[in-house]
Amino acid sequence: MASMFDLTGRTALVTGGSKGLGLAMARTLAEAGASVVIAARHPGELESAMAAILEGTESRGAWLVADMARREEVEALARSAVERLGPIDILVNNAGINRVSPIDAVTDADWDEVLAVNLTAPMILSRALAGSMKQRGWGRIIHISSAFGLVSRGGRNAYSATKAGLIGMTHSMALDLATSGVTVNAILPGPFETPMTVAMHPDPSHKQWFTDRVPMGRWGRTEELAGPLLLLASDAGSFITGAAIPVDGGWLAQ
Ligand SMILES: NC(=O)c1ccc[n+]([C@@H]2O[C@H](COP(=O)([O-])OP(=O)(O)OC[C@H]3O[C@@H](n4cnc5c(N)ncnc54)[C@H](OP(=O)(O)O)[C@@H]3O)[C@@H](O)[C@H]2O)c1
Repeated sequence: MASMFDLTGRTALVTGGSKGLGLAMARTLAEAGASVVIAARHPGELESAMAAILEGTESRGAWLVADMARREEVEALARSAVERLGPIDILVNNAGINRVSPIDAVTDADWDEVLAVNLTAPMILSRALAGSMKQRGWGRIIHISSAFGLVSRGGRNAYSATKAGLIGMTHSMALDLATSGVTVNAILPGPFETPMTVAMHPDPSHKQWFTDRVPMGRWGRTEELAGPLLLLASDAGSFITGAAIPVDGGWLAQ
């Protein structure tokens, strides 16, 4: 059974792989045998993350600096990742940001940045890499959406719009690629403790707001994304496409 999840010989690109969920998922893919390219904005963090991702594995890795808010840098990332480690088999569109403000205070700058990083960059990378996956008859595209793609909280206007947008794009992309051996799915995490959520919720009552919504009564642990990710990234998930899978302790079941 283990061979269904084996990623030896596959190459993955994980955006936002320098910390939080992206780092954990890049590590999972490397442990399963994949070569892994990670991308984010800060070289120092990328370098130390890469060491942690590859430690004890036989996988190859590379890190690239790219700002997902800049279209030309996202396009360059798709080219550079292939130059560094070869054709990309698994694309994990994970990099994401949040800017909290009620609808009557949303700025154009915040709206544009959240849309660019969370929604446009995943489209650009998918567009750039899907053709080669299709030609080679195998590929996995995984969008990291959010429970906030289906439900929300005040102030998450841009964030929820992008996370719902990723689910819509997952459906359409899956249909475009359905007969090609390339699957497209979304993971909808509930609350997980990462640099993003720690920075956004310094007050314990904010953290509690999320805990109260999770029937399991706790936040997720980053390693709890490993199973769902490997299922979607490997041969084990070959008949799953167009799915939006919550990993949320039951939040969205309510
Ligand atoms: N944590 C949760 O509870 C949770 C729940 C649901 C969904 N999610 C989603 O999961 C994904 C990861 O979240 P996280 O909590 O792990 O966030 P995080 O700790 O803030 O990490 C975000 C990653 O994305 C990179 N990034 C941010 N802006 C970027 C940009 N403009 N260009 C390139 N890279 C950028 C960051 O590196 P640099 O800052 O160095 O660029 C970092 O590597 C996001 O899409 C988020 O919306 C998270």
